[in-house]
Amino acid sequence: MKEAKIIDGKLISRKIKEELKAEIAKIIDAEEKAPHLVAVIVGEDPASQTYVASKEKAAKLIGMTSSTYKLPEDTTEEELLKTIDFLNKDDEVDGFIVQLPLPEHIDVDKVISSIDPSKDVDGFHPVNVGRMAIGQKAYVSATPAGIMELLSRYKIDTAGKHCVVLGRSNIVGSPMSILMSKKTNPGNSTVTVCHSRTQNMEEFTKSADILICAIGQPQFVKSDMVKKGAVVIDVGIHRVPADNEKGYRIVGDVDYDEVKYKASHITPVPGGVGPMTISMLLKNTFEASKHEIYPKG
Ligand code: GUN
Repeated sequence: MKEAKIIDGKLISRKIKEELKAEIAKIIDAEEKAPHLVAVIVGEDPASQTYVASKEKAAKLIGMTSSTYKLPEDTTEEELLKTIDFLNKDDEVDGFIVQLPLPEHIDVDKVISSIDPSKDVDGFHPVNVGRMAIGQKAYVSATPAGIMELLSRYKIDTAGKHCVVLGRSNIVGSPMSILMSKKTNPGNSTVTVCHSRTQNMEEFTKSADILICAIGQPQFVKSDMVKKGAVVIDVGIHRVPADNEKGYRIVGDVDYDEVKYKASHITPVPGGVGPMTISMLLKNTFEASKHEIYPKG
């Protein structure tokens, strides 16, 4: 049986980082300031520590300046807001992120809203989300931006196609559905959003030309839910028990081993959407340093 073409996020992510590295080398050769990304992390969550360390490492590898503000778990909301205010005003800093999740005593929405939208390289600020929704230049958050980039680089024809998005989260499903319906390429799709209250989900998934799976359940999408020739994008990352040295393996929201015989294109997990997120954050930071989205003055 014919297998789907793999949409190789690892490869594209590497290419994007190489492209950015070449651009940053030009800036440094001209004796101008390298783009500067700051990450703020509150507490000791091990997954967050790993993510932030990878972001800092990736930024440095392409010639950016990168630093991490590590604040203790008992940091007050006021102290965090003061740190953000300092970063907002620091001309040396082009963009910064506040790693989520935050400790429970801190109001996440208040924190995100206090970031200067022109430095919000995560694209989480309501101003950036709103600008994206009405088709203005904006920082788009890393996962949806990464998926758009993959569709673009693999020249997936999305115009007039039925795009079904599984999931309606603020950081993936919802922005993805908006982006795919815009008068853009990729985009121009007819979009359906399915979620936990959708009835007869299969009816929708089976008619999808492009199926974006961000539902948060391991191997939820089976081959009988997928139309032959569909483009399948898998956003899930889950650890499931496995009979190997580690005792687990990583799977997505899609049952890859089944669906690869039905789809025309598919993103693997790992190695699909995941690796794109860091390169999109770096791309946003590069754009922040160039003031491309929010022109200076
Ligand atoms: N936690 C998990 N993913 C992300 C991300 O992309 N940005 C931030 N700030 N926190 C996260």
